[in-house]
Amino acid sequence: MHTMNRSFRQHMALTLAAMWITVLPAGAAWADDDDFRGAPLDPLYLEECGACHVAFPPALLSQRSWGAVADGLADHFGTDASLDPETLQTIRRYLDDNAGRRRSDGADGRPLLRITDTRWFRKEHRPGEHGLRSDTFSRPEVGSAANCAACHRGAEEGRYGEREIRIPTPGSAR
Ligand code: HEC
Ligand code: HEC
Repeated sequence: MHTMNRSFRQHMALTLAAMWITVLPAGAAWADDDDFRGAPLDPLYLEECGACHVAFPPALLSQRSWGAVADGLADHFGTDASLDPETLQTIRRYLDDNAGRRRSDGADGRPLLRITDTRWFRKEHRPGEHGLRSDTFSRPEVGSAANCAACHRGAEEGRYGEREIRIPTPGSAR
């Protein structure tokens, strides 16, 4: 009986240790824009901020930028995306907790409102690399750089891994 208990405890300790080893690096990478992996998106965020476009990964903008986006929802890129105060507060907290650590300010020092305007995005999507051309984003099949899901097949669920990228070919628009 004693030996069984001990081996069970040993087994549990090993299992827990293994869990930490696998869980920790993924969590650490999530907060770093350069090592972007994607993480499950909060259901409320997915519902409210994924209604008109994909729910953008919080790690791709700074806290300051998300704050500015949240402050401006009544006039959000030409639409009214305002939320009731309670929902707004919950989403704000989620964005704050999961924002990227890198600054996303414009040349004027004010926080950028667009992921697609950040240095990180431009570098990652530079024309001439990975099949991207200067006109790729304006093609009718894509429409805008903000239309992440045109190329990132897992974008609706917040996945942007390289294996799920497919750039639409010209003329494939329906
Ligand atoms: C009523 C529709 C609507 C809702 C709801 C909405 N958005 Fe948007 N959002 C837009 C439009 C339109 C754009 C501009 C898209 C474009 O340029 O192609 C946009 C663009 C953005 C961008 C910039 C994308 C880029 O990098 O170019 C961010 C960030 C953003 N929205 C965040 C949010 C967040 C956070 C919420 C939830 C609080 C939200 N949106 C809810 C309509 C909406
Ligand atoms: C026209 C197609 C296209 C659109 C639209 C697009 N991307 Fe990409 N994205 C790419 C390509 C191509 C790469 C480079 C993949 C590589 O490094 O091999 C990439 C790379 C990335 C990466 C890095 C992936 C990795 O594992 O290295 C992230 C994150 C990403 N994009 C996010 C976004 C987000 C967020 C949006 C929308 C705001 C977006 N992309 C819009 C094509 C696109």
